[in-house]
Amino acid sequence: MLAGEAALAPYARDESGLGPFVPEAAVLVQSADEIAEVLTLCQRDRIAVTPRGLGTGKVGGALAAEGGIVLSTERMNRVREIDAADMVVVVEPGVITGELQRAVEAESLFYPPDPASLDICSIGGNVACNAGGPRAFKYGVTRDYVRGLELVRIGGERLRAGGRTQKGVVGLDLASLVVGSEGTLGVISEITLKLLPRPRAARAFLARFDDADGAGRAVVALVRAGLRPRALELLDVHVVDHLRASGKWPLPAERCALLLVEVDGDAHSIDVELEAAAEVCEGASAREVLVATDEARRAKLWQMRRSVSHTLRDAHHSKVSEDIAVPPGRIPQMLRRLDAIAAEQALLVAAYGHAGDGNLHVNVLFDAVEQRQREKATLEAIFGATLELGGTLSGEHGVGLSKRPYLHLEQPPAHIALQRELKRVFDPDGLLNPGKVWPAAPGRGGTASALTAQGGKRTMAR
Ligand code: MLT
Ligand code: ZN
Repeated sequence: MLAGEAALAPYARDESGLGPFVPEAAVLVQSADEIAEVLTLCQRDRIAVTPRGLGTGKVGGALAAEGGIVLSTERMNRVREIDAADMVVVVEPGVITGELQRAVEAESLFYPPDPASLDICSIGGNVACNAGGPRAFKYGVTRDYVRGLELVRIGGERLRAGGRTQKGVVGLDLASLVVGSEGTLGVISEITLKLLPRPRAARAFLARFDDADGAGRAVVALVRAGLRPRALELLDVHVVDHLRASGKWPLPAERCALLLVEVDGDAHSIDVELEAAAEVCEGASAREVLVATDEARRAKLWQMRRSVSHTLRDAHHSKVSEDIAVPPGRIPQMLRRLDAIAAEQALLVAAYGHAGDGNLHVNVLFDAVEQRQREKATLEAIFGATLELGGTLSGEHGVGLSKRPYLHLEQPPAHIALQRELKRVFDPDGLLNPGKVWPAAPGRGGTASALTAQGGKRTMAR
């Protein structure tokens, strides 16, 4: 167990930029038994507990916003079993996602979900947040790969949901319910993931467009043409400007928006697919197509793509990153709405991300403190446009703390109330990751002091 300001500092923040929320202690568990012990104690003494993977979340989900302890699974980092006959891997929650991928690839197997943070995030966090990533366009998100998991409930009970079979229709699908529940229902202590055969080859290209609208229309054309690249990533003009200004990447000199397209499959079919995708882009107004001619160049394209968030952050006083998703056919409309909102608010709004899924990382960039006065109106306009187009506030980062105030824009009160009831079944005293996802219930406070007053829940005794 860690205590004291210096030791707790790394547990007071995540990638949301919120906080710091210094917990009273951080418990670094090494086994499911230890998780059970901690959760027994938390229930007995009514201590709030915030589960945490490696703290790479973007919405504050792993922050102890209402005090209490952080329970970190970072030390539970073993790949327990890779089974090539059942096509599954069994892992502890603290395994780094990129390491898991490399371990199964060494056995000619494939775990596709690839969040941008894959080399620093953990699979437990991915499951808790139902992480996505570029390859979701072809292969789906984390939920599509969770066959089963073990959940430790508040009070210490261990529950196995799902298993390692491909099919299973006995009772409710509790494993699916836990995926994406952001640590509000229990602590995940083991995960069984489905695997695929490793694709034999992958190739990528960049297509250059005059603007994001052209790139967005090419995305729709690729989907309509029945093509299924494994990634279809859009970088708007502002994002490309920032990448070019960083001087780290070989980019076209012209001002442009880009599509990063990657195909995979068999060595003999892959070139045909690449050609077909490139032709569609050219037919949809691409000025040029730049193919990565070797593995090193392809890897560099992905390094560049994964650097976008930090490049934008480093270039400005501050930023707010959103994560909206619209039905994929409406990507061009969404991009036009973003331009209009940026112009109205006189702010720089840069968009990039998984355009094939309709999922855009919309970054509002601030260079002066007073610009932040327009943050709320800007976010409301972005969310309003997203919902009007039939979209959702978050495609992959979740609600956590930062989107909690906006949940009601998307979900009616009865929908939120039903989720709260479900939460109470798992966690009657509201000890697990309190203050996250759902807005404070009417008539209830959302702060630690309010909880102390109403529920008698307390933070940890020192
Ligand atoms: C990404 O796809 O790059 C991340 O999900 C978004 C981010 O890092 O802002
Ligand atoms: Zn993303």
